[in-house]
Amino acid sequence: MIDELMARMPTRRYAPRLPRHAKEEFDENGFFTLKCITTDEEVEWLREVYDALFSGEGGAFIMHDVNVRVDQQRGDRVSQIIRPENTFPALEKTQFWRNSRRLAAQLLGLELKEMDGWGHMVRKAPRDTEEVPWHQDEGYWDPSFDYLGLGVWMPLDPATVESGCMSMIPGSHKGGVREHKHTNGDPAITVIVCEDVDPSQAVPRPVEIGGASFHHCRTMHWSGPNRTDHVRRAYVNEWQKVPVPLTQPHDRPWFWERMEVIKSFAPDRFKPAVAEVV
Ligand code: NI
Repeated sequence: MIDELMARMPTRRYAPRLPRHAKEEFDENGFFTLKCITTDEEVEWLREVYDALFSGEGGAFIMHDVNVRVDQQRGDRVSQIIRPENTFPALEKTQFWRNSRRLAAQLLGLELKEMDGWGHMVRKAPRDTEEVPWHQDEGYWDPSFDYLGLGVWMPLDPATVESGCMSMIPGSHKGGVREHKHTNGDPAITVIVCEDVDPSQAVPRPVEIGGASFHHCRTMHWSGPNRTDHVRRAYVNEWQKVPVPLTQPHDRPWFWERMEVIKSFAPDRFKPAVAEVV
């Protein structure tokens, strides 16, 4: 199946540009939405790749349920695969990968050669009741480094308020990383939560299929339950300047507490890394 999908990879090139106001808007709000970042045929093909990976093809590590302990997974809820390109390297040859990298560099004011990146797939089952709590992506990352990065979030199904699109807090990227806590106080639960947030400031950000929502790694965001009868698949490419090691790490104890517990369940899957976001 994987080989067959690889052989059918669409080849049509597509190179969108950012509108003139994009960088200004991104700098001000911490997010920006582009209507289209890849071709329709690549979206179709990515859906097949996505479903194959989530069905277990290729052996990618699937976190089936980010809202409960890693040893008490309940199956099909909000699930994720980190770095799917390790299982399916052709993902690094897609228009989405190429375009998201180039446009991320422009929004961050970086050279292409400075960019480091990885993929992340987040799948919301139909008729689910669970949300992804408020967080800054950098809150998930190793605090031994300094970052300048953003996520490029592309839905493969309509991302509406009803299906659980993201909501963001404008300007929240301008401060530092706020305190995050373990869900239910339990570091064995994948998602962490920031309570230092005012949800009345939130702006819902629906995105069309094949469009892209860019958000800074410090932009506070949340996504609601998928109340529709259809799966809501999103594929994210995370781009950043190669992280700079700090002599004195940031004080974010939740990261180390979480790594310790998760490593004990899956030592080969959770190397201390900068690679985990939700
Ligand atoms: Ni996130």
